[in-house]
Amino acid sequence: MKPPTLSLHHHHRLTIPFLHRPTSISLSPSPRVSNAPFTVRMSLKEDGPSVAIVGVTGAVGQEFLSVLSDRDFPYRSLKLLASKRSAGKTLTYENRNYTIEELTENSFHDVDIALFSAGGSISKKFGPIAVEKGTIVVDNSSAFRMDEGIPLVIPEVNPEAMEGIKLKSGKGALIANPNCSTIICLMAATPLHRRAKVTRMVVSTYQAASGAGAAAMEELEQQTREVLEGKEPTCKIFKQQYAFNLFSHNAPVLSNGYNEEEMKLVKETRKIWNNKDVKVTATCIRVPVMRAHAESVNLQFKTPLDENTAREILSNAPGVVVIDDRAANYFPTPLDVSNKDDVAVGRIRQDVSQDGNYGLDIFVCGDQIRKGAALNAVQIAEMLL
Ligand SMILES: NC(=O)c1ccc[n+]([C@@H]2O[C@H](COP(=O)([O-])OP(=O)(O)OC[C@H]3O[C@@H](n4cnc5c(N)ncnc54)[C@H](OP(=O)(O)O)[C@@H]3O)[C@@H](O)[C@H]2O)c1
Repeated sequence: MKPPTLSLHHHHRLTIPFLHRPTSISLSPSPRVSNAPFTVRMSLKEDGPSVAIVGVTGAVGQEFLSVLSDRDFPYRSLKLLASKRSAGKTLTYENRNYTIEELTENSFHDVDIALFSAGGSISKKFGPIAVEKGTIVVDNSSAFRMDEGIPLVIPEVNPEAMEGIKLKSGKGALIANPNCSTIICLMAATPLHRRAKVTRMVVSTYQAASGAGAAAMEELEQQTREVLEGKEPTCKIFKQQYAFNLFSHNAPVLSNGYNEEEMKLVKETRKIWNNKDVKVTATCIRVPVMRAHAESVNLQFKTPLDENTAREILSNAPGVVVIDDRAANYFPTPLDVSNKDDVAVGRIRQDVSQDGNYGLDIFVCGDQIRKGAALNAVQIAEMLL
């Protein structure tokens, strides 16, 4: 039984013909998983920006299409870009047929906004080329996140970081989308931070296959089938068996023993909160969940904050829903938030290891392809209009 506070936004799912299986699962059947023509809204607007999606065939790229449609984002034209492998493939979107083009240095002529999700090296090479052409790039990779002068933005948290960047200026610019675990964590931690100032944060993540892209999701699906059939699981994306297992996040391990994903949480939090002093530590784990990350977050505050006040603050926070039903032992799950915009928070409780009301534990779940990537980027794009 779900508590009455649960009111996540539902979305229609797109079917992209050449990606023959849904890239997400949800508790209830969704219209987008069928092969039937999907219901569309017409977003084509003469006075809207021209938009390009770089990496449209990927897990995040597909979600860009879905989010643009769900939010009725106004655009006058849409350019779909991917690698040479995908060039020439067609897809139908909002009742129009598009041919995917190969990303080249000439792709950004007359493109106002480019949503990038094709990996860090592609962003590094083509991001500056697009900016040079006057395009505003919203980049999902980690390529520019920590660069000084590049805004790193969660619209609900630090919209002021991109103040002054507007489409009508006609000038190119680069805006970075934070790491998915950082976005999900800070969506819940920031409203509490605003009230009581977080001095230290300990994050443990349970990260889904989708965070590693479409091929990782396929690997989990295939391995699950293989293990159930008594076969040796095929490991291509990850070195270790993923199905019926979990392991330390696959990001490279650094000389300090942290992996890159963990250090992103540390560094990006400081940049987004504009606070060099906040102490953050993290342990990031990949779990065999198809879609949506979960995170256990322990917070230490400068000023006291009791759990009831925290629950109330979170209940009123934009983009956050509270699922915290102790009587039913029902708290957020990755399935609850899959294909949803909102981040769900529960297990809101006083940390008994800290004296007074200076510590809280919370458990957060968020769809990292959606709020952790595509939705956050489209929200940034909306702020440019
Ligand atoms: N998955 C997430 O939850 C998530 C969250 C936040 C940020 N991100 C970031 O978003 C980016 C993409 O992630 P993803 O999960 O969507 O990966 P993915 O499913 O593997 O998709 C990768 C995309 O990049 C394209 N691509 C690869 N090489 C290219 C090239 N040389 N030129 C043009 N396009 C190229 C691919 O096109 P082809 O199909 O033609 O190969 C595909 O569209 C990464 O930087 C990732 O770190 C992902």
